[in-house]
Amino acid sequence: MKKITIIGAGNVGAHAAVSAATLELGSIILLDQNADLAKGKALDITQSMALFHNDIVVTGTGDYQDTAGSDIVIITAGVSRKPGMSRDDLLEINANIVVSIVKQVVEYSPNCILIIVTNPINTMVQLAYETSGFSKERVIGMAGILDGGRFKYYIAKELNVGASEVTTMVLGDHGELMVPLEDHCQVSGQPIAELMSRERIESIVHKVQHAGSVIVNLLKTGSAYFAPGLAVIQIAKAIIRDEHKTLPCAVYLEGEYGVDGSFVGVPVVLGRDGIEKIVEIHLSEKESEAFNISVAHIKQRTNELKQKRV
Ligand code: LAC
Repeated sequence: MKKITIIGAGNVGAHAAVSAATLELGSIILLDQNADLAKGKALDITQSMALFHNDIVVTGTGDYQDTAGSDIVIITAGVSRKPGMSRDDLLEINANIVVSIVKQVVEYSPNCILIIVTNPINTMVQLAYETSGFSKERVIGMAGILDGGRFKYYIAKELNVGASEVTTMVLGDHGELMVPLEDHCQVSGQPIAELMSRERIESIVHKVQHAGSVIVNLLKTGSAYFAPGLAVIQIAKAIIRDEHKTLPCAVYLEGEYGVDGSFVGVPVVLGRDGIEKIVEIHLSEKESEAFNISVAHIKQRTNELKQKRV
């Protein structure tokens, strides 16, 4: 049985644990510096699984020894944004949290695959990569799956179709400069440009880019967690079940898409060993322009952090 560790028993971590348990992906460790919070949520989730005739056990802990030998470690710990804040405002505080966690994770699970959810994701995953010393195939940021789900929702709502009929792809940074690919979005195989006007498409793209803030403003105490918790488990599932599935993730690029040395959201094939392949899709001129702006923002933020940390 595979072992999955989720670091951070806040809302995203707990919902990731529920999703992983529901899909029966393996034995699950939920770790938090507040051990009782992790233990309480783990008991609650395990007891809810018993109602499904599902034997998965979630173990709550505050001790990294319990994570030893994990196949996958998901990092959700960190501060989430409040109304008026951007994901970038979390940069320094979450950087310190991620570095200290990755060091402990690597000590106990040197062969794991790391998946980062903590914001700002594209910079946090780069920090995790550098701190861990892992190969680039084993360090993955979650972003495009969540943003792609939001894109599906808004298209489905506008056209009054089922969201499962909609195919989307969102690349670049997980922030307001993310790039929902208009020219690659289809409903049952039909390009959206044939189904709605450019103005309507642009208004939906804008909604996708700000979808996280809408939820932050409604919740007032933090950010979204149901969809982020489920989205990260899509990555874990593709790895554990060796699905060879193509999903958008923030990964280390070395020349692909004309980018060198940054973690950027692009489609990748996921299987047992992590990232099997980076898929290079053709971008239209407009998509390409937006992608380059998004990448420049990631680089700028990552450099800003580097300067603060030296
Ligand atoms: C969001 C946060 C989790 O997009 O980044 O809702």
